[in-house]
Amino acid sequence: MAKAWFYKEYGSVDVLQFGEIPSPSAGPGQVLIEVRAAALNPVDFKLRRSRSGDTPFPVVPGADVAGVVAEVGQGVSKFKKGDEVYADVLKITEGVPRQVGTLAEYTVAEEHLLALKPSNLSFEEAASLPLALQTALLAFDTVNFQKGQSVFIVGGAGGVGTLAIQLAKHVFEASRIVSTSSTGKVEFVRSLGADLVVDYTKQSYEQIDEKFDFVFDTIGESFKSHVVAKDEGKIVDIATFPPHQKAVNVFVKPKGSDLERVGKYIESGKLKPVIDPKSPYAFSDVVEAFKHLESGRARGKIVISPID
Ligand SMILES: NC(=O)c1ccc[n+]([C@@H]2O[C@H](COP(=O)([O-])OP(=O)(O)OC[C@H]3O[C@@H](n4cnc5c(N)ncnc54)[C@H](OP(=O)(O)O)[C@@H]3O)[C@@H](O)[C@H]2O)c1
Repeated sequence: MAKAWFYKEYGSVDVLQFGEIPSPSAGPGQVLIEVRAAALNPVDFKLRRSRSGDTPFPVVPGADVAGVVAEVGQGVSKFKKGDEVYADVLKITEGVPRQVGTLAEYTVAEEHLLALKPSNLSFEEAASLPLALQTALLAFDTVNFQKGQSVFIVGGAGGVGTLAIQLAKHVFEASRIVSTSSTGKVEFVRSLGADLVVDYTKQSYEQIDEKFDFVFDTIGESFKSHVVAKDEGKIVDIATFPPHQKAVNVFVKPKGSDLERVGKYIESGKLKPVIDPKSPYAFSDVVEAFKHLESGRARGKIVISPID
C-alpha cells in the first residue's frame, strides 16, 4: 500500500482525503517513481471540480513529480533503479486522465515522460518545473517564435508566466519582454527578466501603446489582451476555450525531451525554478496548498515535500 491524497467524488477541496491506495507498479514501458516532491497545477483542481473524464475513483491528483526510480517495467531502457528523475505524468487517454497522480508515495509514468533531474536542482525545485515549463515551450513553439521578436506575457507571476519570461529571455532571446501583474508583484516579475511590467490594476490593455509579435496569455483574457498584438502578431491563450478568434488555445503534451531540451539552461542557472514563498508544504498540508493555489494568488509554483 502507498500513502496518498485522493478523491472519490468531484468537488471542492473538501472531497480530498488522505489514506492508503494499492501501490502502483510499473507496467511495460513504465517507470515506478518514489515521490520525493510534487507540485500543484490548476489542472489538478479543475479536474477535481468538474467531471472532465471518467477516471475510476479513487483519483490521486497531481501531475508534477521529482523522485527516485524504484522499479522499471519491461522494455524500459533509458532509466534504471536509483535514477533521480522528474516529469509531468499527467496523461489523458481518450479523455480519461491517469488514475494515480503524484500526490502519493509512489507514482508511475511512461518512460518517454521522464528526464533525469538536473544535478543542481533539489527535488522541490525539479518538481516545480515540468508542466508549466512544457506549456510555455509549447506556446513559443506554436507561434514559431524567432530570436529578436517581442513578446507580451499576460500573468507574469504565475507558474507558467514566471517560466515563460525566463524562456523568452534566455532560450528564445526575445528583443522585448513585457508582462503583467498586480501592484505587489511588479518588482518580482521584473526581476525574472521582464523589461517592463504593467500593473493590471492600474492600466488596461487599451492604455498600452506598444504592439507585440507574440501575446502569450496565461490568464485566459485573450478577448481583452488581443489588442496588444501587432496586426500580423500571434496570440496563444492557454486558459480560455474557445479563445478570441485571433488566438489559438494549446494544451500541454508532456514529454521528457522538452525537459532535456532546456537542460543546459537549467544547469547553467539561467532558467531558475520559481517556488511560491509559502512552499514547500508538508504532505499533511495538501488541502492548505490547494486552497492557496485556488485563491489564484500563488507566486510561482506550489510544491509539496517531503512526501512521507
Ligand atoms: N492549456 C494548458 O496546457 C495549460 C497548462 C498550464 C496551465 N494552464 C492554465 O493556465 C492558467 C495559469 O496557470 P498557472 O499555473 O500559471 O496559474 P497560477 O500559478 O495559479 O497563476 C497565479 C498567478 O496569476 C496571476 N494573475 C491572476 N489574475 C491575473 C490577471 N488578471 N492578470 C495578470 N496576472 C494575474 C496572479 O498574480 P497577481 O496576484 O499579481 O494577480 C498569480 O501570481 C490556469 O488557468 C491553468 O489551468 C493551461
